Amino acid sequence: MNDNNLDKIAVTLSKPPKGILAADESTNTITKRFDSINVDSSFENRRRYRELLFKTHDLNKFISGIILYDETIRQSTSEGMPFSEFLKDLGILVGIKVDTGALPLTSNSHEKITEGLDGLAKRIEEYKNLGAVFTKWRAIIDIDDKNSIPSDYAIDLNCFNLARYAKVVQDHGLVPIVEPEVLMEGNHNIQKCYNITSKTLKSLFNYLKFHDVDLSGILLKPNMVIAGKGCSEQASIEEVASQTIKCLKESVPDQVPGIVFLSGGQSNELATQHLNQMNKSSETLSWNLSFSYGRALQQPALTSWQGESENIKISQDALFKRSNLNSSATLGKYSIDLENI
Ligand code: G3H
Repeated sequence: MNDNNLDKIAVTLSKPPKGILAADESTNTITKRFDSINVDSSFENRRRYRELLFKTHDLNKFISGIILYDETIRQSTSEGMPFSEFLKDLGILVGIKVDTGALPLTSNSHEKITEGLDGLAKRIEEYKNLGAVFTKWRAIIDIDDKNSIPSDYAIDLNCFNLARYAKVVQDHGLVPIVEPEVLMEGNHNIQKCYNITSKTLKSLFNYLKFHDVDLSGILLKPNMVIAGKGCSEQASIEEVASQTIKCLKESVPDQVPGIVFLSGGQSNELATQHLNQMNKSSETLSWNLSFSYGRALQQPALTSWQGESENIKISQDALFKRSNLNSSATLGKYSIDLENI
């Protein structure tokens, strides 16, 4: 328990039937997404796209919170209402990405370290005034046997920074989402992903303890335990679900209120199926298991939009559908047949 409602916010964000929409792509990342549909990544097009997402009908039935990017939290609807106020009126909590991206760990390194601790306290105060109640920091851990990575150094340093970030954010009264993402890029099998995810989570909770972070006021945003995209042997839905739960149970203390997965490049359907399978499991879990998907929620909406105003409705319908289906998955009530309704 904590005295500034962090635990309540963390529970609200992760409690079925709702989850989080990650719409916090940096300008570089959203530009790549817009390139894929041949849309110019201008300030106004990025605003139009985010407005389309946020104005999706009944989004608040399935979405508890939305993570924004620095530019977006300063933007407004076409009627001039700041996005953060618009979302708040819908009962959707406003989150903000506060890391400043990942840079090479050393000049000749294949690994990355997520930066953003400098000036963090000041930025959090500003975001708080802009309406944010929770934050996100993403660390990336790459698996590549050829280059003997990940190193313990990269894992520990990234987890140290994640924990320090969480401490600063809680100190300023916001909920930190801690996101250590073991990437799906590569040929590694599910066992390798399990081992690296397990090592990373152990390091993370060790540093969260070291920094005296209140675990009841955080959310964990991990990858699922899954084979690399290039691996010839892809695990079944049941195996991904059971390995993920086993791995989390080994490392995540019961005080953590919720685990909200990233989608990491899984197909839309698989990201939903895996979450559903975990929530169908008969195991008693102490944490809420929900989603904080970026691509697996947005991809069909982005593709339907194509930058055209006349496509806004079908694009919003696509986001509504994925949000609805992932909401069902938080209850273990999704079935693949629902995809065709
Ligand atoms: O940091 C990554 C995003 O918040 C989640 O994105 O679901 O596309 O992996 P993703």
